Amino acid sequence: MSRSFRDNLAQLLKARLPILYVESYEESRVIAEVTAVARDGTSVRTPRAVWTWSLTEGLVQPDGVVRRGTTDPADALDAVLRLDEPSVVILRDLHPVLGGDGRPGDPRIIRRLRDVAAAFKSGTVPRTLVLVSPVLRIPVELDRDVTIVDFPLPSEAEIRMVLDGLIAANIASGRIQIRLDDVQRERFAKAALGLTLHEAENAFARAIVNDGILDVHDLRVVHEEKRQAVRKSGLLEVVEAGAGLADIGGLENLKRWLAKREGAWLAAAAEYGLPAPRGVLITGVPGCGKSLTAKAVAATWELPLLRFDIGRVFSGLVGSSEQNLRTAIRIAEATAPCVLWVDEIEKGLAPDSGGDSGTASRVFGTFLTWMQEKTRPVFVIATANDIGRLPPELLRKGRFDEIFFVDLPTQVERRSIWRVHLARRLRNPAVAGGLVLDDDLLAELSALTEGYSGAEIEQAVIAGLFEAFSARRPLDRDDLVRAVATMVPLSVTQAEQIDAVRAWASTRAVAATAAEDWDLGGRPTIGRPGPDGFPPGPHGGRLVEY
Ligand SMILES: Nc1ncnc2c1ncn2[C@@H]1O[C@H](COP(=O)(O)OP(=O)(O)OP(=O)(O)O)[C@@H](O)[C@H]1O
Ligand SMILES: [Mg+2]
Repeated sequence: MSRSFRDNLAQLLKARLPILYVESYEESRVIAEVTAVARDGTSVRTPRAVWTWSLTEGLVQPDGVVRRGTTDPADALDAVLRLDEPSVVILRDLHPVLGGDGRPGDPRIIRRLRDVAAAFKSGTVPRTLVLVSPVLRIPVELDRDVTIVDFPLPSEAEIRMVLDGLIAANIASGRIQIRLDDVQRERFAKAALGLTLHEAENAFARAIVNDGILDVHDLRVVHEEKRQAVRKSGLLEVVEAGAGLADIGGLENLKRWLAKREGAWLAAAAEYGLPAPRGVLITGVPGCGKSLTAKAVAATWELPLLRFDIGRVFSGLVGSSEQNLRTAIRIAEATAPCVLWVDEIEKGLAPDSGGDSGTASRVFGTFLTWMQEKTRPVFVIATANDIGRLPPELLRKGRFDEIFFVDLPTQVERRSIWRVHLARRLRNPAVAGGLVLDDDLLAELSALTEGYSGAEIEQAVIAGLFEAFSARRPLDRDDLVRAVATMVPLSVTQAEQIDAVRAWASTRAVAATAAEDWDLGGRPTIGRPGPDGFPPGPHGGRLVEY
């Protein structure tokens, strides 16, 4: 268990806050943790008696003492009011009577909770009520009396204990072969980060039973369980990291900046005095590699990649927005170190028309606050297309470590992009035939594709391949040249919009393209120097060299 929950809880108990609310599916873990803290005299000064309550059991103590006639929550709270020794009472699943989702709560219970809060605050004996439930429901009447306590998902050490326990039990039974060394066990535990303890145990059990052998191949079972569990959160998705940064053509300045942040969350970096990186915002022209970069960072750094679909907050398909966001954040923090990719962050802002803009700004605000204050190594990569909609508070200094602008690729960059997309395919002799990927060919293709995005260059390669394949022959230069000629790039059909985003970026964002890759001359220089005096690039984005 992370120290932080225990420390936090001990503080709250000592501070005599009357009612705490822990939102978690992991009732038994919560009870175990709360019990451990409550009974530990060194952390809470006065050790407390621990009671738990549920609709089926009423009030009970861990050693079996039962308070009869308390299964009704009103009776239970009356009994709680009469407690006169230092105590912590954990109420399980009280949420159905607390209202919410348009339904009123039970006034008998809410009134009694207020009475308990008042009595606990003014009493001399330290007593605390802890509500544990998978959903957060706080009636307005109790707003000031209830303190929400965050309960993190299990740590790697806790998951590892479950794994080792399962392995030991199975070795003892002799029915299962275990072929995992210590490093591989660590990989199993890491793969299950973000799951509840129960989910992790299920995942491991499934990996063990599928063929009677537990080896490194079973990791995919755990990955699959994780993928499903994460999807249940409604807003998050585990993404397979694809190609690495080396497979991105151009954007060298952005890549250098990223490369300098690799490993910035290691203990060594903190000892060196580095703050953990917050993340980066990448804006720019469509199809030029924003999403690609987010995926490539995770691949290059070998970190799990979680895609955060912030737009779904408003889809109405998933439950309460705030709860979903908290769940998503909890999973990301448990999975840390990881990359959290917020694609098209502007979709998390209030919808233009209709929608609940109050909820929207609250949820977005919660997200921004978390980004600012997070202590776990979650590297946020946000991408944005519709920059006009980005609120100033998102762009404020300190929110992101840097804001990059990805423009249409320059001549030099287009050469790299062509190389990336052709090299892989030409490795197949049936495709390559006599075509050689030399500087002349790259220079020619690059010159032909002025104003084309990376996505359009890739499309041209694919169109050329179709041409060649339909004639059952290798690819040749003319296929590519023709494919390029038949396309009308976005930069022609949307010239005005692109100029507008460049103008916007010229003062607000740093050019992702490295200075040495700019096409000097030939292109109009747009934008004026920013207020801090950085010269504008020949495209959108200020010149800041990393
Ligand atoms: N710089 C690049 N190097 C190599 N391939 C690129 C580059 N830019 C784009 N591509 C190709 O185009 C595809 C689409 O790019 P990507 O999804 O990153 O664009 P985007 O900037 O996120 O666009 P959108 O604004 O439409 O989301 C990539 O999967 C990749 O194959
Ligand atoms: Mg994208």
